[in-house]
Amino acid sequence: MGLLDGKVAIVTGASRGIGKAIAVLFAQEGANVAFTDLNADENFQKVEKELNTLGVKAKGYVSNAANFENCQQTVDEIVKDFGRVDALINNAGITKDNLLMRMTEDQWDLVMNVNLKSIFNMTKAVQRTMLKQKSGSIVNMSSVVGVGGNAGQSNYSASKAGMIGFTKSIAKELGSRNVRCNAIAPGFIITEMTGQLPQEVVEGWYEKIPLKRGGTPEEVAKTALFFASDLSSYVSGQVLTVCGAMQT
Ligand code: NAI
Repeated sequence: MGLLDGKVAIVTGASRGIGKAIAVLFAQEGANVAFTDLNADENFQKVEKELNTLGVKAKGYVSNAANFENCQQTVDEIVKDFGRVDALINNAGITKDNLLMRMTEDQWDLVMNVNLKSIFNMTKAVQRTMLKQKSGSIVNMSSVVGVGGNAGQSNYSASKAGMIGFTKSIAKELGSRNVRCNAIAPGFIITEMTGQLPQEVVEGWYEKIPLKRGGTPEEVAKTALFFASDLSSYVSGQVLTVCGAMQT
C-alpha cells in the first residue's frame, strides 16, 4: 500500500533535481505521475522510463511553466490522459543571481515569470478540475531565501516570497472546497542548481548549517509526499522549512 495509491500528481520541472526526486517517490508511493519540463532531452526521457518501471502510469509533457497558454494546454492534455488531478507540485524554478547594482531587467523578469507567474499559470489551469473533485493538494516550492532574503538574489527572493503569499491566499480561497495549498522552503539542497557554486562557497554554507551538510532532493521529496498525501489532510496555508536548522 502506497500513500498515494490511485492519485494523479503533476510535477513541474521534473527532468532532474528536486522535481525528479518528487516524481520518483510519488510513483513509488503508487501515484500516477504527469511531469513537465522545457525539453524532451535525455534526462526527461530517462525520468519517463524510470517512472514507467515502477508500475504506475507516467508521462512527460514538454511545457513551459512560465507560459500561460502552454500551461492551460498541458493541463487539458493531462486531464484527458489521466482523468483527474489530485496533487500539483509547482517545482520548476531558476536563479539569475546578481547584485541589484548589476541586475538587468531581463534577469528580474525571467526569474519572476518562471518562479512566480508559473504557479499562477498552473494553479489556474488545475483549479476547475480540483473544485469539481472537491479535493486537491497544491504544493509550491519556495525557498528559505523567500523567507529570509539573500544578498545577490533579490529577484529570486522576491519571487519565492511571492509564492508564499500566493500559497496562503489560495489556501484561504479554495479551502471550502477541500483544496489545500502549502509551500516548502528548502535550504541548501545538493542539485545542479547549487552545483554551479564553487566548492569553498559550498563548504562555507555547510559550516553555517547546524546539521553540517546540504540536504538531498529525496529529503525534500519526502516533505512533498507529506503535503500531497492524506497525512496532511488538515494542514493548509503553511510553509515548511527543510533546511537542517539553517533558518529557524
Ligand atoms: P534544477 O535546476 O536542478 O532543476 C529545475 C528543473 O526545472 C530543470 O529540469 C529545468 O529544466 C526545469 N525548468 C526550468 N524552467 C522551467 C520552465 N519554465 N518550465 C518547466 N520546467 C522548467 O533545480 P532544483 O535545485 O531541483 O530546484 C527545484 C526547485 O526547488 C526550484 O524551484 C528551486 O528554486 C527550488 N529550490 C532549490 C534549492 C536548492 O538548494 N537546490 C533550495 C531552495 C529551493
